[in-house]
Parts: sequence; structure tokens; C-alpha cells
Amino acid sequence: MALDLLWLSLTLLGILQIQASGKIHVPRSMKINLSKIHLESNFNEDRFQGKWYALAVAENTIQNGSDSQFQMYSSTFYLNDDHSYNVTTKRHKGRVCDCRIMTLVPSYVPGQFELDNIKCYPGILLYTMRVSFTNYNQYALIFVKMQFKHILFYEATLYGRTKHLNADLKDRFIDFATFIGFNEENMIFHDPVEECIDN
Ligand SMILES: *[C@@H]1O[C@H](CO)[C@@H](O)[C@H](O)[C@H]1NC(C)=O
Ligand SMILES: *[C@@H]1O[C@H](CO)[C@@H](O)[C@H](O)[C@H]1NC(C)=O
Ligand SMILES: *[C@@H]1O[C@H](CO)[C@@H](O)[C@H](O)[C@H]1NC(C)=O
Repeated sequence: MALDLLWLSLTLLGILQIQASGKIHVPRSMKINLSKIHLESNFNEDRFQGKWYALAVAENTIQNGSDSQFQMYSSTFYLNDDHSYNVTTKRHKGRVCDCRIMTLVPSYVPGQFELDNIKCYPGILLYTMRVSFTNYNQYALIFVKMQFKHILFYEATLYGRTKHLNADLKDRFIDFATFIGFNEENMIFHDPVEECIDN
């Protein structure tokens, strides 16, 4: 159950599944003011494009990260002329490849994005993604705040341009997530996989 919810907040789009099952695991309560989260200065929308691998994830819905059956997924950002991104997320689920697409539109500060057409996602009242730190060619630290009905979800993600999580990136991620208020049990570190995410 927790796994489905995780994917929901990872990609949002599993929401209907959760609603249908009627089971929601209420996450550890956290209150985070977006203004406290670092924002990459002079965000370069062009250079952020392309494929990223999710090397590590922290969420307030994750209870025991070491128990996670979640696998590495990839998210590819395509920049549109209107400065929005189409984001294609791929992962291996069961025996099939799961592929989901969403569109993120620029928010009031560069490097921050909102979900486009939020009304098309029943129950989702807010979805904000903030690029906190990135050097574009190696890593990105991302913060997402999402509200589903009365429940707030927070997520920190470490994206890498390769699937390799080195000690330095791991430390940066832990510092970032800890500063936000996550503990080690909320964190998942992904092993590299090949199925589905390579192309
Ligand atoms: C977040 O912090 C800013 C600046 O400190 C403040 O102006 C704003 O009211 C806060 N927002 C919420 C929802 O607490
Ligand atoms: C977390 O998961 C690990 C691996 O499955 C398990 O050994 C450990 O007992 C779990 N811890 C808690 C607090 O549930
Ligand atoms: C983004 O998605 C829209 C709608 O499917 C499509 O028309 C557009 O070509 C896509 N943009 C890019 C850069 O792939």
C-alpha cells in the first residue's frame, strides 16, 4: 500500500488507483514553507532538459526506506516553446514498463514549476516543484510539495545524469533532505537498473 502511494506522489498519476482502493496511509505530519527551500539561482531551463535518473528519494510517506521495493526510474524533461516542460517518467513495474507524462509550467520564480491542468487530476489541489540545486550535467536536488485533498506530501529527489550514486552526491542528498526535515527512514537509495528506463 505504501508503495502505491509513493508512486502516486512520485508521479501523481496513480491517484485514481488510490482513490478507488479507498486506502490512504496518512504520512508523518510536516509543515514546510516553500520559502525556506533553496532555489537554484539563474535557473537555466535549456540546460536542465534531457534525461535524469532518480538516484535517491525522500518522502514523508516513506516509513522504512530500507524496506522499499521501489526501483530507480527516469524522468526526461522536454522544453516547450512556452517554457513549460513535458516530463516523461519511466519505470519498471511488475513485468511491464510504466510510462507517464505530465506537463509542468513555470511558476512565479525561475526554477519553480506547477502542474499544468491541475483540474484534470481529481483531488490534487497543489503541486509545486522547485529545483533547489543543480549543476545541470551531473546532479539536481529537487523539492516537490503536493496536496491531495487534506494531505500534504513532501518529496526530495536526487537526480543524476548517470545511474551512479557516488558518496559525495549521497552526502549532499542526505544533508538536503535532513535540512528539510526528513529522517533516514524516509529516504530510499536506488540501485541502478536497466529495464525500461534506458530509452
Ligand atoms: C512563508 O514564509 C514567508 C516568509 O517568511 C511568509 O511571508 C509566508 O507568510 C509564509 N507562508 C506560510 C504559508 O506560512
Ligand atoms: C525496515 O526494513 C528492514 C528491511 O526489510 C527490516 O529489517 C527492518 O526491521 C525494518 N524496520 C522497521 C522499523 O520496520
Ligand atoms: C509536449 O506535449 C504536447 C502535448 O502532447 C505536444 O504537443 C508537444 O509537442 C510536446 N513537446 C515536446 C517538446 O515534446
